[in-house]
Amino acid sequence: MDDKLNVRSLIDAEKGVVKPAIYTDQAIYELELERVFARSWLFLTHECLIPKAGDFFTTFMGEDPVIVVRQKDGSVAAFLNQCRHRGMKLCHAEEGNTRALTCPYHGWSYGLDGELKSVPLEEEAYRNALDKSKWGMRKVPRLAVYKGLIFGNWDESAPGLEDYLGDMAWYLDGFLDRREGGTEVVGGIHKWVIECNWKFAAEQFCSDQYHAPYTHGSAVQVLQPVATNKPDGAPLGEGQTDKPAWANGLGGVQFSGNGHGSAFFFTEKPDANVWVDGEVSTYFRETYAETEKRVGRVRALRLAGHNTMFPTLSWLNGTQTLRIWHPRGPNQIEVWAFCIADKAAPDSVKEALKKSHARAFGPAGFLEQDDSENWVEVQKVLRGHMAKQTEFCMQMGLGFEERRDDGIPGITNNTFAETAARGFYKRWADMMTAESWDEIDAMAGIELKEAANA
Ligand code: FES
Ligand SMILES: [Fe+2]
Repeated sequence: MDDKLNVRSLIDAEKGVVKPAIYTDQAIYELELERVFARSWLFLTHECLIPKAGDFFTTFMGEDPVIVVRQKDGSVAAFLNQCRHRGMKLCHAEEGNTRALTCPYHGWSYGLDGELKSVPLEEEAYRNALDKSKWGMRKVPRLAVYKGLIFGNWDESAPGLEDYLGDMAWYLDGFLDRREGGTEVVGGIHKWVIECNWKFAAEQFCSDQYHAPYTHGSAVQVLQPVATNKPDGAPLGEGQTDKPAWANGLGGVQFSGNGHGSAFFFTEKPDANVWVDGEVSTYFRETYAETEKRVGRVRALRLAGHNTMFPTLSWLNGTQTLRIWHPRGPNQIEVWAFCIADKAAPDSVKEALKKSHARAFGPAGFLEQDDSENWVEVQKVLRGHMAKQTEFCMQMGLGFEERRDDGIPGITNNTFAETAARGFYKRWADMMTAESWDEIDAMAGIELKEAANA
Protein backbone atom coordinates (compact mmCIF):
# COMPACT_ATOMS: atom_id res chain seq x y z
CA MET A 1 0.00 0.00 0.00
CA ASP A 2 1.13 3.55 -0.67
CA ASP A 3 1.02 4.53 2.98
CA LYS A 4 1.93 8.20 2.57
CA LEU A 5 -0.85 8.84 0.10
CA ASN A 6 -3.47 6.95 2.06
CA VAL A 7 -2.74 8.32 5.50
CA ARG A 8 -2.77 11.94 4.37
CA SER A 9 -6.02 11.32 2.51
CA LEU A 10 -7.63 9.92 5.64
CA ILE A 11 -6.82 12.69 8.04
CA ASP A 12 -6.35 16.43 7.98
CA ALA A 13 -5.39 17.14 11.57
CA GLU A 14 -4.86 20.87 10.99
CA LYS A 15 -8.39 21.26 9.66
CA GLY A 16 -9.89 18.78 12.10
CA VAL A 17 -11.34 16.23 9.65
CA VAL A 18 -10.96 12.45 10.15
CA LYS A 19 -12.01 9.53 7.98
CA PRO A 20 -12.89 6.59 10.21
CA ALA A 21 -10.88 4.01 8.25
CA ILE A 22 -8.02 4.98 10.58
CA TYR A 23 -9.94 3.13 13.30
CA THR A 24 -10.81 -0.01 11.35
CA ASP A 25 -8.33 -0.69 8.55
CA GLN A 26 -5.99 -3.64 9.06
CA ALA A 27 -3.28 -2.21 6.77
CA ILE A 28 -3.30 1.07 8.72
CA TYR A 29 -3.00 -0.95 11.91
CA GLU A 30 -0.01 -2.91 10.64
CA LEU A 31 1.65 0.36 9.69
CA GLU A 32 0.95 1.73 13.18
CA LEU A 33 2.78 -1.21 14.76
CA GLU A 34 5.81 -0.45 12.60
CA ARG A 35 5.86 3.33 12.50
CA VAL A 36 4.20 4.41 15.75
CA PHE A 37 4.75 1.61 18.25
CA ALA A 38 8.22 0.56 17.12
CA ARG A 39 9.47 4.18 17.20
CA SER A 40 7.76 5.77 20.24
CA TRP A 41 8.75 5.78 23.88
CA LEU A 42 6.36 3.30 25.50
CA PHE A 43 5.65 2.79 29.18
CA LEU A 44 6.90 -0.59 30.39
CA THR A 45 6.49 -0.68 34.14
CA HIS A 46 7.08 1.15 37.42
CA GLU A 47 10.45 0.73 39.11
CA CYS A 48 8.78 -0.35 42.35
CA LEU A 49 7.49 -3.51 40.66
CA ILE A 50 10.99 -4.89 40.02
CA PRO A 51 13.04 -3.75 43.04
CA LYS A 52 15.48 -6.71 43.39
CA ALA A 53 17.95 -8.44 41.08
CA GLY A 54 16.12 -11.11 39.11
CA ASP A 55 12.73 -9.42 39.42
CA PHE A 56 10.90 -9.36 36.13
CA PHE A 57 7.70 -7.89 34.70
CA THR A 58 6.18 -8.92 31.38
CA THR A 59 4.31 -6.45 29.21
CA PHE A 60 3.88 -5.41 25.57
CA MET A 61 5.27 -2.79 23.24
CA GLY A 62 2.48 -2.57 20.71
CA GLU A 63 1.79 -6.26 20.09
CA ASP A 64 5.36 -7.33 20.84
CA PRO A 65 5.66 -9.14 24.17
CA VAL A 66 8.57 -7.84 26.23
CA ILE A 67 10.11 -8.73 29.55
CA VAL A 68 11.67 -6.13 31.83
CA VAL A 69 14.34 -7.53 34.15
CA ARG A 70 16.27 -6.06 37.09
CA GLN A 71 19.92 -6.95 36.50
CA LYS A 72 22.46 -8.13 39.07
CA ASP A 73 24.12 -4.70 39.07
CA GLY A 74 20.81 -2.96 39.80
CA SER A 75 20.28 -1.66 36.28
CA VAL A 76 17.21 -2.53 34.21
CA ALA A 77 17.13 -4.30 30.84
CA ALA A 78 14.24 -5.24 28.58
CA PHE A 79 14.01 -7.91 25.90
CA LEU A 80 11.61 -9.23 23.34
CA ASN A 81 9.86 -12.04 25.20
CA GLN A 82 10.49 -14.52 22.43
CA CYS A 83 12.77 -17.52 22.22
CA ARG A 84 15.34 -17.36 19.43
CA HIS A 85 14.97 -21.06 18.64
CA ARG A 86 11.46 -21.41 17.18
CA GLY A 87 9.86 -18.22 18.49
CA MET A 88 7.97 -19.44 21.57
CA LYS A 89 6.98 -16.88 24.21
CA LEU A 90 9.71 -17.34 26.76
CA CYS A 91 8.20 -16.13 29.99
CA HIS A 92 4.49 -16.70 30.56
CA ALA A 93 4.31 -15.31 34.10
CA GLU A 94 3.14 -11.71 34.58
CA GLU A 95 5.84 -10.98 37.14
CA GLY A 96 8.17 -12.74 39.55
CA ASN A 97 11.81 -13.38 40.41
CA THR A 98 14.11 -15.75 38.56
CA ARG A 99 17.76 -16.64 37.92
CA ALA A 100 17.18 -17.72 34.33
CA LEU A 101 14.55 -17.63 31.61
CA THR A 102 13.93 -21.10 30.23
CA CYS A 103 11.78 -21.68 27.19
CA PRO A 104 8.85 -24.04 27.77
CA TYR A 105 9.07 -25.49 24.22
CA HIS A 106 12.52 -27.17 23.97
CA GLY A 107 14.28 -25.78 27.00
CA TRP A 108 16.73 -23.16 25.73
CA SER A 109 17.77 -21.14 28.74
CA TYR A 110 18.80 -17.48 28.92
CA GLY A 111 20.45 -15.47 31.68
CA LEU A 112 19.02 -12.29 33.20
CA ASP A 113 21.23 -10.39 30.76
CA GLY A 114 19.49 -12.05 27.79
CA GLU A 115 22.48 -14.20 26.79
CA LEU A 116 21.74 -17.74 25.69
CA LYS A 117 23.38 -19.83 28.42
CA SER A 118 22.43 -23.41 27.67
CA VAL A 119 20.55 -25.57 25.19
CA PRO A 120 19.42 -29.13 25.92
CA LEU A 121 21.33 -31.94 24.19
CA GLU A 122 23.90 -29.50 22.91
CA GLU A 123 26.36 -32.23 22.06
CA GLU A 124 23.97 -34.80 20.52
CA ALA A 125 21.62 -32.44 18.71
CA TYR A 126 23.91 -29.57 17.74
CA ARG A 127 27.20 -31.53 17.64
CA ASN A 128 28.54 -28.69 19.78
CA ALA A 129 28.44 -26.48 16.66
CA LEU A 130 25.89 -23.90 17.86
CA ASP A 131 27.41 -20.47 18.49
CA LYS A 132 25.34 -19.52 21.54
CA SER A 133 26.79 -16.01 21.62
CA LYS A 134 24.78 -15.24 18.44
CA TRP A 135 21.38 -16.33 19.77
CA GLY A 136 20.72 -14.17 22.82
CA MET A 137 17.32 -12.55 23.43
CA ARG A 138 16.62 -9.47 21.36
CA LYS A 139 17.30 -6.45 23.53
CA VAL A 140 15.21 -3.26 23.63
CA PRO A 141 17.98 -0.82 22.70
CA ARG A 142 16.67 2.29 24.44
CA LEU A 143 15.46 2.36 28.05
CA ALA A 144 14.92 5.40 30.25
CA VAL A 145 13.40 6.06 33.65
CA TYR A 146 11.33 9.13 34.40
CA LYS A 147 10.45 9.61 38.09
CA GLY A 148 9.89 5.91 38.66
CA LEU A 149 8.29 5.08 35.31
CA ILE A 150 10.37 2.86 33.01
CA PHE A 151 10.04 3.46 29.27
CA GLY A 152 11.43 1.61 26.28
CA ASN A 153 11.93 2.47 22.62
CA TRP A 154 12.91 0.13 19.77
CA ASP A 155 14.27 2.98 17.65
CA GLU A 156 17.93 3.81 18.26
CA SER A 157 17.53 7.11 16.43
CA ALA A 158 14.56 8.36 18.49
CA PRO A 159 15.07 11.52 20.55
CA GLY A 160 15.83 11.05 24.27
CA LEU A 161 12.84 10.53 26.55
CA GLU A 162 12.91 14.08 27.95
CA ASP A 163 12.97 15.62 24.47
CA TYR A 164 10.19 13.29 23.42
CA LEU A 165 8.12 14.41 26.43
CA GLY A 166 8.86 18.09 25.89
CA ASP A 167 6.33 20.22 27.81
CA MET A 168 4.44 17.07 28.80
CA ALA A 169 7.03 16.54 31.54
CA TRP A 170 5.51 19.56 33.33
CA TYR A 171 2.16 17.75 33.44
CA LEU A 172 3.67 14.38 34.34
CA ASP A 173 5.48 16.01 37.26
CA GLY A 174 2.12 17.21 38.56
CA PHE A 175 1.17 13.55 38.90
CA LEU A 176 4.45 11.91 39.97
CA ASP A 177 6.28 14.54 41.96
CA ARG A 178 3.73 15.70 44.51
CA ARG A 179 5.61 14.43 47.58
CA GLU A 180 9.15 13.62 48.64
CA GLY A 181 9.99 10.03 47.72
CA GLY A 182 7.95 9.83 44.54
CA THR A 183 5.26 7.27 43.81
CA GLU A 184 4.54 3.57 43.87
CA VAL A 185 1.96 1.20 42.47
CA VAL A 186 -0.64 0.10 44.99
CA GLY A 187 -2.31 -3.30 44.68
CA GLY A 188 -2.47 -5.40 41.54
CA ILE A 189 -2.91 -4.33 37.95
CA HIS A 190 -6.40 -4.47 36.50
CA LYS A 191 -6.32 -5.88 32.97
CA TRP A 192 -9.31 -6.12 30.68
CA VAL A 193 -10.36 -5.98 27.05
CA ILE A 194 -12.44 -3.30 25.33
CA GLU A 195 -13.71 -3.75 21.78
CA CYS A 196 -12.48 -0.46 20.35
CA ASN A 197 -9.56 1.08 18.51
CA TRP A 198 -6.70 2.26 20.75
CA LYS A 199 -6.90 5.81 19.42
CA PHE A 200 -10.42 6.39 20.80
CA ALA A 201 -9.19 5.81 24.35
CA ALA A 202 -5.88 7.65 23.98
CA GLU A 203 -7.51 10.63 22.26
CA GLN A 204 -10.21 10.99 24.88
CA PHE A 205 -7.73 11.07 27.75
CA CYS A 206 -5.55 13.45 25.76
CA SER A 207 -8.17 16.00 24.89
CA ASP A 208 -11.82 15.33 25.58
CA GLN A 209 -13.23 17.09 28.63
CA TYR A 210 -16.28 17.88 26.51
CA HIS A 211 -17.71 14.41 27.19
CA ALA A 212 -17.50 14.71 30.96
CA PRO A 213 -20.64 16.72 31.83
CA TYR A 214 -22.78 14.61 29.50
CA THR A 215 -21.31 11.09 29.51
CA HIS A 216 -20.68 11.19 33.25
CA GLY A 217 -23.87 13.17 33.99
CA SER A 218 -25.38 10.54 36.27
CA ALA A 219 -22.17 10.02 38.24
CA VAL A 220 -21.80 13.77 38.65
CA GLN A 221 -25.35 14.12 39.93
CA VAL A 222 -24.96 11.42 42.52
CA LEU A 223 -21.33 11.57 43.61
CA GLN A 224 -19.60 14.83 42.84
CA PRO A 225 -21.31 16.74 45.67
CA VAL A 226 -19.93 14.25 48.19
CA ALA A 227 -16.39 15.20 47.27
CA THR A 228 -17.00 18.88 46.89
CA ASN A 229 -18.91 19.25 50.15
CA LYS A 230 -15.79 18.39 52.13
CA PRO A 231 -16.41 15.11 53.94
CA ASP A 232 -15.06 16.34 57.25
CA GLY A 233 -17.82 18.94 57.40
CA ALA A 234 -15.50 21.91 57.03
CA PRO A 235 -17.16 24.95 55.45
CA LEU A 236 -16.21 25.98 51.94
CA GLY A 237 -13.28 28.34 51.93
CA GLU A 238 -13.03 31.65 50.12
CA GLY A 239 -13.40 31.19 46.37
CA GLN A 240 -14.42 27.57 46.82
CA THR A 241 -17.52 26.13 45.27
CA ASP A 242 -19.56 23.01 45.68
CA LYS A 243 -20.29 22.90 41.96
CA PRO A 244 -18.65 20.34 39.67
CA ALA A 245 -15.27 21.45 38.36
CA TRP A 246 -16.57 22.46 34.90
CA ALA A 247 -19.35 24.55 36.41
CA ASN A 248 -17.27 26.41 38.96
CA GLY A 249 -16.59 29.36 36.71
CA LEU A 250 -12.84 29.02 37.03
CA GLY A 251 -12.34 27.58 33.54
CA GLY A 252 -9.65 25.20 32.44
CA VAL A 253 -6.89 24.56 29.99
CA GLN A 254 -6.11 22.10 27.25
CA PHE A 255 -2.48 21.51 26.29
CA SER A 256 -0.99 19.98 23.17
CA GLY A 257 2.64 19.21 22.35
CA ASN A 258 4.54 16.43 20.51
CA GLY A 259 1.26 14.50 20.21
CA HIS A 260 0.74 14.49 23.98
CA GLY A 261 -2.19 16.25 25.58
CA SER A 262 -3.76 17.28 28.83
CA ALA A 263 -7.15 18.78 29.57
CA PHE A 264 -8.08 19.99 33.01
CA PHE A 265 -10.17 22.40 35.06
CA PHE A 266 -8.95 25.01 37.46
CA THR A 267 -10.18 24.39 40.97
CA GLU A 268 -9.65 25.91 44.38
CA LYS A 269 -9.85 22.56 46.08
CA PRO A 270 -7.04 20.05 46.55
CA ASP A 271 -9.59 17.19 46.55
CA ALA A 272 -11.78 18.30 43.65
CA ASN A 273 -11.46 15.11 41.62
CA VAL A 274 -11.46 12.55 44.39
CA TRP A 275 -15.16 11.77 44.06
CA VAL A 276 -16.03 9.48 46.94
CA ASP A 277 -13.49 8.67 49.55
CA GLY A 278 -13.31 10.75 52.72
CA GLU A 279 -9.86 9.55 53.76
CA VAL A 280 -8.39 10.28 50.36
CA SER A 281 -9.91 13.76 50.34
CA THR A 282 -8.45 14.47 53.75
CA TYR A 283 -5.06 13.23 52.55
CA PHE A 284 -5.00 15.55 49.54
CA ARG A 285 -5.97 18.51 51.70
CA GLU A 286 -3.43 17.71 54.41
CA THR A 287 -0.55 17.28 51.97
CA TYR A 288 -1.49 20.27 49.83
CA ALA A 289 1.15 22.59 51.32
CA GLU A 290 4.01 20.19 50.52
CA THR A 291 2.71 19.64 47.02
CA GLU A 292 2.31 23.34 46.33
CA LYS A 293 5.90 23.89 47.44
CA ARG A 294 7.13 21.20 45.05
CA VAL A 295 5.06 21.81 41.92
CA GLY A 296 3.36 25.18 42.43
CA ARG A 297 -0.25 26.16 42.90
CA VAL A 298 -1.70 25.31 39.48
CA ARG A 299 -0.40 21.78 39.43
CA ALA A 300 -1.00 21.22 43.14
CA LEU A 301 -4.68 22.04 42.60
CA ARG A 302 -4.90 20.44 39.18
CA LEU A 303 -6.64 17.29 40.21
CA ALA A 304 -9.54 17.64 37.80
CA GLY A 305 -7.83 16.60 34.60
CA HIS A 306 -6.78 13.78 32.33
CA ASN A 307 -3.73 13.24 30.17
CA THR A 308 -2.17 11.12 27.44
CA MET A 309 1.50 10.77 26.68
CA PHE A 310 1.57 9.77 23.01
CA PRO A 311 0.71 7.17 22.02
CA THR A 312 -0.87 5.00 24.73
CA LEU A 313 -0.06 6.09 28.29
CA SER A 314 -2.85 7.95 30.08
CA TRP A 315 -3.48 9.09 33.63
CA LEU A 316 -5.96 10.94 35.80
CA ASN A 317 -5.04 12.94 38.83
CA GLY A 318 -7.14 12.40 41.94
CA THR A 319 -8.43 8.93 41.13
CA GLN A 320 -4.74 8.11 40.52
CA THR A 321 -5.23 5.81 37.58
CA LEU A 322 -2.32 5.28 35.22
CA ARG A 323 -3.21 3.12 32.27
CA ILE A 324 -1.80 1.81 29.08
CA TRP A 325 -3.97 1.01 26.07
CA HIS A 326 -2.27 -2.02 24.49
CA PRO A 327 -3.46 -2.33 20.88
CA ARG A 328 -4.93 -5.69 19.86
CA GLY A 329 -5.76 -5.28 16.20
CA PRO A 330 -7.73 -2.31 14.87
CA ASN A 331 -10.87 -3.23 16.82
CA GLN A 332 -9.65 -4.11 20.29
CA ILE A 333 -7.51 -2.90 23.17
CA GLU A 334 -6.26 -4.44 26.36
CA VAL A 335 -6.35 -1.91 29.18
CA TRP A 336 -3.82 -2.22 31.99
CA ALA A 337 -4.69 0.08 34.88
CA PHE A 338 -2.27 0.83 37.72
CA CYS A 339 -3.22 2.72 40.91
CA ILE A 340 -0.47 5.23 41.69
CA ALA A 341 0.09 6.55 45.22
CA ASP A 342 2.66 8.81 46.83
CA LYS A 343 5.21 6.52 48.47
CA ALA A 344 5.07 8.71 51.58
CA ALA A 345 1.31 8.24 52.05
CA PRO A 346 0.22 6.20 55.11
CA ASP A 347 -0.83 2.59 54.45
CA SER A 348 -4.45 3.36 55.31
CA VAL A 349 -4.50 6.08 52.61
CA LYS A 350 -2.95 3.70 50.08
CA GLU A 351 -5.66 1.18 50.89
CA ALA A 352 -8.35 3.85 50.52
CA LEU A 353 -6.80 5.03 47.24
CA LYS A 354 -6.86 1.49 45.91
CA LYS A 355 -10.60 1.28 46.60
CA SER A 356 -11.45 4.71 45.22
CA HIS A 357 -9.36 3.96 42.12
CA ALA A 358 -11.20 0.67 41.52
CA ARG A 359 -14.60 2.22 42.16
CA ALA A 360 -14.04 4.96 39.60
CA PHE A 361 -11.63 3.45 37.05
CA GLY A 362 -11.40 -0.29 37.67
CA PRO A 363 -12.96 -2.52 34.99
CA ALA A 364 -16.35 -2.09 36.70
CA GLY A 365 -15.69 1.51 37.75
CA PHE A 366 -18.57 3.94 37.44
CA LEU A 367 -16.58 6.38 35.29
CA GLU A 368 -14.73 3.69 33.35
CA GLN A 369 -17.96 2.09 32.13
CA ASP A 370 -19.38 5.43 31.02
CA ASP A 371 -16.28 6.05 28.89
CA SER A 372 -15.76 2.63 27.36
CA GLU A 373 -19.39 2.19 26.37
CA ASN A 374 -18.98 5.14 24.00
CA TRP A 375 -15.85 3.72 22.37
CA VAL A 376 -17.41 0.27 21.94
CA GLU A 377 -20.56 1.70 20.38
CA VAL A 378 -18.58 3.90 17.95
CA GLN A 379 -16.53 0.88 16.92
CA LYS A 380 -19.73 -1.11 16.30
CA VAL A 381 -21.16 1.66 14.12
CA LEU A 382 -17.96 1.53 12.07
CA ARG A 383 -18.78 -1.98 10.88
CA GLY A 384 -21.17 -0.27 8.48
CA HIS A 385 -20.10 0.45 4.91
CA MET A 386 -21.46 4.01 4.84
CA ALA A 387 -20.40 4.74 8.43
CA LYS A 388 -16.81 3.85 7.57
CA GLN A 389 -16.72 6.46 4.83
CA THR A 390 -18.42 9.28 6.71
CA GLU A 391 -16.02 11.91 8.02
CA PHE A 392 -15.81 12.96 11.68
CA CYS A 393 -15.60 16.53 12.92
CA MET A 394 -12.66 17.46 15.16
CA GLN A 395 -12.83 21.25 14.95
CA MET A 396 -13.68 22.39 18.47
CA GLY A 397 -11.76 25.56 19.29
CA LEU A 398 -9.91 25.46 15.95
CA GLY A 399 -7.93 28.66 15.47
CA PHE A 400 -8.22 29.74 19.12
CA GLU A 401 -4.94 28.15 20.18
CA GLU A 402 -2.70 30.34 22.30
CA ARG A 403 0.41 30.44 24.42
CA ARG A 404 -0.17 31.51 28.01
CA ASP A 405 1.95 33.79 30.14
CA ASP A 406 1.11 32.24 33.52
CA GLY A 407 3.64 29.41 33.44
CA ILE A 408 1.37 26.78 31.87
CA PRO A 409 3.55 25.65 28.98
CA GLY A 410 2.89 24.69 25.38
CA ILE A 411 0.17 25.29 22.85
CA THR A 412 -3.05 25.70 24.83
CA ASN A 413 -6.76 26.38 24.47
CA ASN A 414 -9.87 26.36 26.61
CA THR A 415 -10.31 22.97 28.24
CA PHE A 416 -13.37 22.39 26.05
CA ALA A 417 -11.48 22.12 22.76
CA GLU A 418 -9.99 19.54 20.41
CA THR A 419 -6.60 21.16 20.18
CA ALA A 420 -4.89 18.23 21.88
CA ALA A 421 -6.82 15.74 19.71
CA ARG A 422 -5.64 17.58 16.59
CA GLY A 423 -2.10 17.55 17.99
CA PHE A 424 -2.39 13.83 18.77
CA TYR A 425 -3.51 13.00 15.22
CA LYS A 426 -0.98 15.34 13.68
CA ARG A 427 1.80 13.46 15.44
CA TRP A 428 0.15 10.17 14.48
CA ALA A 429 -0.03 11.14 10.77
CA ASP A 430 3.52 12.52 10.87
CA MET A 431 4.84 9.26 12.31
CA MET A 432 2.82 7.17 9.87
CA THR A 433 4.26 9.02 6.87
CA ALA A 434 7.79 9.93 7.98
CA GLU A 435 10.73 7.71 7.16
CA SER A 436 12.85 8.91 10.06
CA TRP A 437 12.79 10.78 13.35
CA ASP A 438 14.50 13.72 11.61
CA GLU A 439 11.48 13.98 9.34
CA ILE A 440 9.06 13.67 12.28
CA ASP A 441 10.90 16.44 14.15
CA ALA A 442 10.86 18.69 11.09
CA MET A 443 7.09 18.24 10.76
CA ALA A 444 6.55 19.01 14.47
CA GLY A 445 8.57 22.21 14.08
CA ILE A 446 6.24 23.43 11.36
CA GLU A 447 3.21 22.95 13.58
CA LEU A 448 4.68 24.80 16.53
CA LYS A 449 5.79 27.80 14.48
CA GLU A 450 2.44 28.09 12.75
CA ALA A 451 0.51 27.76 15.97
CA ALA A 452 2.66 30.36 17.71
CA ASN A 453 2.07 32.81 14.87
CA ALA A 454 -1.67 32.17 14.73
S1 FES B 1 11.23 -22.49 20.81
FE1 FES B 1 12.28 -22.08 22.62
S2 FES B 1 13.57 -23.75 22.89
FE2 FES B 1 12.57 -24.17 21.03
FE1 LIG C 1 -14.57 10.14 30.98
